[in-house]
Amino acid sequence: MTTLDFFSAGAAPDDPAFRARELHRLLHHHAHRYYVLDAPEIPDAEYDRLFRELQALEAAHPELLTPDSPTQRVGGKVLDSLTPVRHAVPMLSIETETDTTAQGAQDFDARVRKALGLQDGDAPVEYAAELKFDGLAMSLRYELGALVQAATRGDGETGEDVTQNVRTIGQIPLRLKGCEAAVLEVRGEVYMRRDDFEALNEKQRAKGEKTFINPRNTAAGAIRQLDPALVAQRRLSFFAYGLGEVQGWPVPATHARLLDALQAMGLPVCAERAVAEGAAGLVAFHSAIGERRDALPFDIDGVVYKVNALALQQQLGFKTREPRWAVAHKYPAQEMLTTVQAIEVQVGRTGKLTPVAKLAPVFVGGVTVTNATLHNEDEARRKDVRVGDTVIVRRAGDVIPEVVAVLPEKRQTGAEVFTMPHACPVCGSVAVREEGEADYRCTGGLFCSAQRKQAMLHFASRRAVDIEGLGDKLVDQLVDSGVVKTLPDLYRLGLTALAALDRMADKSAQNILDALEKSRQTTLPRFLYGLGIRHVGEATAKALARHFGKLDAIMDAGEDQLLQVPDVGPIVAQSIHTFFQQAHNREVVEQLRACGLRWEEGEPSPAAQSPLAGKTFVLTGTLPTLSRDEARELLEAAGAKVAGSVSKKTDYVVAGEEAGSKLDKALELGVAVLDEAGLRALLPGG
Ligand code: IVH
Repeated sequence: MTTLDFFSAGAAPDDPAFRARELHRLLHHHAHRYYVLDAPEIPDAEYDRLFRELQALEAAHPELLTPDSPTQRVGGKVLDSLTPVRHAVPMLSIETETDTTAQGAQDFDARVRKALGLQDGDAPVEYAAELKFDGLAMSLRYELGALVQAATRGDGETGEDVTQNVRTIGQIPLRLKGCEAAVLEVRGEVYMRRDDFEALNEKQRAKGEKTFINPRNTAAGAIRQLDPALVAQRRLSFFAYGLGEVQGWPVPATHARLLDALQAMGLPVCAERAVAEGAAGLVAFHSAIGERRDALPFDIDGVVYKVNALALQQQLGFKTREPRWAVAHKYPAQEMLTTVQAIEVQVGRTGKLTPVAKLAPVFVGGVTVTNATLHNEDEARRKDVRVGDTVIVRRAGDVIPEVVAVLPEKRQTGAEVFTMPHACPVCGSVAVREEGEADYRCTGGLFCSAQRKQAMLHFASRRAVDIEGLGDKLVDQLVDSGVVKTLPDLYRLGLTALAALDRMADKSAQNILDALEKSRQTTLPRFLYGLGIRHVGEATAKALARHFGKLDAIMDAGEDQLLQVPDVGPIVAQSIHTFFQQAHNREVVEQLRACGLRWEEGEPSPAAQSPLAGKTFVLTGTLPTLSRDEARELLEAAGAKVAGSVSKKTDYVVAGEEAGSKLDKALELGVAVLDEAGLRALLPGG
């Protein structure tokens, strides 16, 4: 049965078929807002409610269940194998222009002009320029507007049926908006965003499992899974870029208009596209996208140029398997082979030891890479990277380069397995790996010069107090020569000491002094962030400053007061409290103040000023005038917490009529007990 059968005329508003139709419309609309436009109009919980309503309706009236129902995205069966699908229109490939310079675009334009018989004086050819997504090609077949089949490219003639897997991709509409064409095959690319890929690998690392190599392989592997429930966990995405078979739909006259039309039907079409005039337009597009490549949320391996007018495309035709009207113009590869020359262990600001592969220099993702992270001991072991190995290095986006795999067949005999040192390679202190942690940490603290250097670099960084020009080379020199031992020492530097350093001209010494002077006037959030307290990032530093107003209030806050700060949980609260409990940390803060570091302080927020801030209450029994919820709201507004059960940590129990075991427990533990009047007396204005 198709959708249209049960949507046929005659359904009344209280009819289940009518409601099902309404729910289809709503769920399709909101899925599009959420997955494609990234602009939801309703909360997730409301979407879930509508979804469950439709599920219930379909369970009660199985005749209402159609393949394009929003409930059919998940729940397909586990298959034994994938079924072959013969493509009505073959899925072609595109010629690749590997010359990554402007010449690549110029050569293509010249070939097109020649094939069209154009002379030098004739007008430039108009092209549709778009991205070359690095995923896998997919053909989506819509009949009368409903998705009926999804197939991989395969050899171009025959692919595999992956319909139930593709249904799990939220971005792919199960029903097209405003298109009832008998057949519309939409071609495009299934891919995985870099953040979704990184998150997946983070999860794998946390579970101690094998990480995936790159987003493309991960997406391709997922699409060919036999169990759609596994695919649903992968968070795949899709971009449409062309057509296959079409029946009963007027195809627009240009490729750019075609993409507009697909977008209007609710299909995801990448916004990074342009209509380009002649070779100059193509060159400009190639270089503009090249500049922004790292900032895109997904991998691309090039751009694609297509002659815009479909009539001209027809005139140009094909050479065997590739159209003459399109070309892929590449960028430098994001994965390259190189060899590991050494494995070093670096010490971070918090003492974390990171194994880093030192590589034979290799040009990857547009830059020369000589270092690649191996993350931690387990990961280095799992990948089994050894000195001398030939490895695949990946550098994509702003993620640090990493070794993604070893080519074992290229290993020299005698290569030794890497082991993490159990002592800090810089200061020699014991390195420990806490239970349940993936990382070894140097226990040397500020005794460790590596940690001191990193702490200084962090304090000086742009988002902290911003000491311009204080980079790692200078910090190395300052710390290694013993001129600077602690953070405040930086502010005690004089021109003579600085100018005495190797390769330091008077002028640059003065620049550093000026930068130090400028950094003395800062803000409380920058200063706090710069201290490098574990778990205190910029957002937490801002929240702390807003809540407490003054640094001294933060330094003296107990864990319960810290817990009052929005988004500060027990681990963060403990970390901040422990940091300021340590005499040497307070000393550093005092010395920095004495060195002239200053910032504006504000008033604490109302919640922080309240005498109830951070106190824990338990409510029990019926109060004379306040409902449970009202009492809770009043307490929370005053900065207190309301807990469900009484313990030694409870500050007050508020008891009303028929208070039961919680009151007994309070009396047993000696917790203060209040009635409603007592509670009101504690509240502001009470
Ligand atoms: S058009 C007749 N456009 O590149 C032209 N392909 O070698 C058919 N690809 O298998 C393809 N981005 O998976 C086209 N914007 C884009 C593309 C694109 C990526 C892939 C596609 C195809 C391969 C062609």
